[in-house]
Amino acid sequence: MSHSIICVMKYGYFDDQKREYVITDPNTPYPWINYLGNEDFFSLISNTAGGYAFYKDAKYRRITRFRYNNVPIDNGGRYFYIKDGDTIWSPGWKPVKTTLDSYECRHGMSYTRISGKKNGLSAEILYFVPLGIWGEVQKVTLRNLDNRTRKFKLFSFIEWCLWNAEDDMTNFQRNFSTGEVEVEGSVIYHKTEYKERRNHYAFYSVNADIAGFETDRDTFLGLYNGFDRPAAIEKGVLQNNIAHGWSPVASHYLEIELAPGGSKDLIFLLGYVENEEDEKWASNGVINKQKASAMITSFNTSDKVTSAFDDLSAYWDELLAKYEVDSGDARLDRLVNIWNQYQCMITFNFSRSASYFESGIGRGMGFRDSNQDLIGFVHQVPERARERILDIAATQFEDGGAYHQYQPLTKKGNNAIGGNFNDDPLWLILSTSAYIKETGDYSILEEQVPFDNDETVAQSHFEHLRRSFYHVVNNLGPHGLPLIGRADWNDCLNLNCFSKDPNESFQTTENKSGGVAESIMIAGMFVLYGEEFVHLCHKTGKDREAEEARKHIIAMRTAIDKHGWDGKWFLRAYDFFGNKVGSEENEEGKIFIESQGFCTMAGIGLEDGRAVTALDSVKERLDCQYGIVLNNPAFTRYVIEYGEISTYPAGYKENAGIFCHNNPWIMIGETLIGRGDLAFDYYRKIAPSYLEEISDLHKTEPYVYAQMIAGKDAFRPGEAKNSWLTGTAAWNYYAITQYILGIRPDYDGLIIDPCIPREWVGFKVNRLFRGAMYHIVVKNPDHVSKGVSMIKVNGSVIEGNVIPIYEKGSINTVEVIMG
Ligand code: GLC
Ligand code: GLC
Repeated sequence: MSHSIICVMKYGYFDDQKREYVITDPNTPYPWINYLGNEDFFSLISNTAGGYAFYKDAKYRRITRFRYNNVPIDNGGRYFYIKDGDTIWSPGWKPVKTTLDSYECRHGMSYTRISGKKNGLSAEILYFVPLGIWGEVQKVTLRNLDNRTRKFKLFSFIEWCLWNAEDDMTNFQRNFSTGEVEVEGSVIYHKTEYKERRNHYAFYSVNADIAGFETDRDTFLGLYNGFDRPAAIEKGVLQNNIAHGWSPVASHYLEIELAPGGSKDLIFLLGYVENEEDEKWASNGVINKQKASAMITSFNTSDKVTSAFDDLSAYWDELLAKYEVDSGDARLDRLVNIWNQYQCMITFNFSRSASYFESGIGRGMGFRDSNQDLIGFVHQVPERARERILDIAATQFEDGGAYHQYQPLTKKGNNAIGGNFNDDPLWLILSTSAYIKETGDYSILEEQVPFDNDETVAQSHFEHLRRSFYHVVNNLGPHGLPLIGRADWNDCLNLNCFSKDPNESFQTTENKSGGVAESIMIAGMFVLYGEEFVHLCHKTGKDREAEEARKHIIAMRTAIDKHGWDGKWFLRAYDFFGNKVGSEENEEGKIFIESQGFCTMAGIGLEDGRAVTALDSVKERLDCQYGIVLNNPAFTRYVIEYGEISTYPAGYKENAGIFCHNNPWIMIGETLIGRGDLAFDYYRKIAPSYLEEISDLHKTEPYVYAQMIAGKDAFRPGEAKNSWLTGTAAWNYYAITQYILGIRPDYDGLIIDPCIPREWVGFKVNRLFRGAMYHIVVKNPDHVSKGVSMIKVNGSVIEGNVIPIYEKGSINTVEVIMG
């Protein structure tokens, strides 16, 4: 296969000054999206204004409707239509798709700005969710670029979702009869089910008088039309219908007149309100609109909107000032300083719930996923990280095991998704130790945290970590290695599943009992995160407990040495029957990435050369032009004793896809053996900003990571899927900042330990750590990859490579010479 001819095709460019990605061609290879909102109210918005809004939970509190897997793709959003004489157009190109004279979409930090021009008129819409507000502001700026007065019509449009997104998509026999709205002035209210058990409604307003409105979808569109040709807009008037059942929507109709060169701002607000039981009604059947009115008033002028937007920019200025690199490589800097951190915030907020590949109804917050997401986020808002860690811990079972997922709205474990993934508990130790290293806040260990949300059995958070640790110890197999349970990090390595029925899920179906499937990946994790547990024991004065734990770690190392090494790499697992998985003996799936990553990160084989050998095998067998594949050779037939992994066609997903999430494990392993060139080469291969020129092949956004890139065995190697919500974001951020650039928070200071390509002459990093700022300048005069020969802090040489903790508010200069 030759992939040498790749045409350069870009659909936009990075504007680093503004922290934006600017899309200049709406016809992107896939919808390129952004997220609005930072706390409670969220929206997804594509480059053509597609997407939807929800409050906290994309499944249970969906505010506007979106149809996934639709034809054409990305249909449904917050649309504006302009009717200028006979020409109808949309500033975001879709849904009308009238050819525009110009188009631009700027995705920035929690906002998107879309603008279009047609026949001497321009329309720009700024979409954002102001901090602390349960609503999306859409500021529309209309301009007359012409030298004559222009009269035209503007229509807004959104479609309400009847709250529970899953029910909304399936339960039509009921839902076609329940829809209710109210209209007062220029505000359209959606109040379906408000009269019974709901305490919330939504609204869509504009700060101007309207010439009409529509709330009934079929009247607006015409039953046989799509969003591209609304019948009402073709007619040019709205009929002021109040929807009863069917599909309620909200559309405003405004008549606009602009003098030559004139412009006009209009502020639309899509809001969400909750009322106390005894304050629900203004009068019989009429909802209490006080909170909505207050919210509308707070955004009814351009000045108020501008000031809220400035607050949002300041919020991101502050967040992104905590870690800034100047490497001389713009593609690296924009990823580390802007987009990777931004994506980490998004994965923190959404886990795996709502993207253009996650429907928002399937997966809530993952136990393992959300814990891992924290390692890329904890420096941004440590208080929110703390709260999240305790939320996750509260879903843990008393035996240390865990629900695999929980719902963000209820914070309760999701029974339907099951549990018994035996890696889950250990990730809680990772997130907690990362939090303490970042903050020095050991008090989190003393918090009382329930098990399975039952307050009556609450214990300290430290006790939760202890149960996590001992969950492994209490579930060992015949080789002294951890039993895998339903699966480990690799959801699809279902060694106890034996599924023959296409109607059952690999993830939840009853497992066969009596097997001895063990995971060498969990073994590596146990050694790595077990050490953190030991550390936390010491730090809290539990030396005996630390000693006890250490014994288990030593035993695990011995078990890996004896039963986990295949000669040239680490084995992956033992199957149900005790046969090797990921061995030279196997016909397919001889080598897997996960155990190479975790065992080398845990430092196993560092002294005796096995780590180097294992990583050489990764290079030889798993690496390819687009990244490191998960396993090799790919499975070409269904192996019933391995489960879902072998169901995927070769080269995709867990079957030899480039699962970007675990590539950084290898990068980190490489830094531990000092191979900075290779570590960075792996980094660059999957980093989106380096793939911008091959957007036609790569397909997904060049500003965020995707979960998976098709591997070397795939039909189309290099094609990405599942962008945005992936542990890839946090792990790559962790690898580049802490192991390649090597600025690493630790319990008692900031470690400086870069491992970089030899050709680099150095780099600079500004790092805010425990309230003190460090301006770090690293020089590499001898062109080494690793090793620090001298560190000066504020002019004085220090011993070793750990910068002690300086006073909060202090500004410190750090000079590092590698060699
Ligand atoms: C998905 C899941 C994650 C899992 C990974 C590998 O990204 O969200 O939990 O570890 O796939 O199967
Ligand atoms: C994870 C995997 C995916 C698998 C799913 C469970 O997300 O990445 O391949 O299908 O879990 O169904």
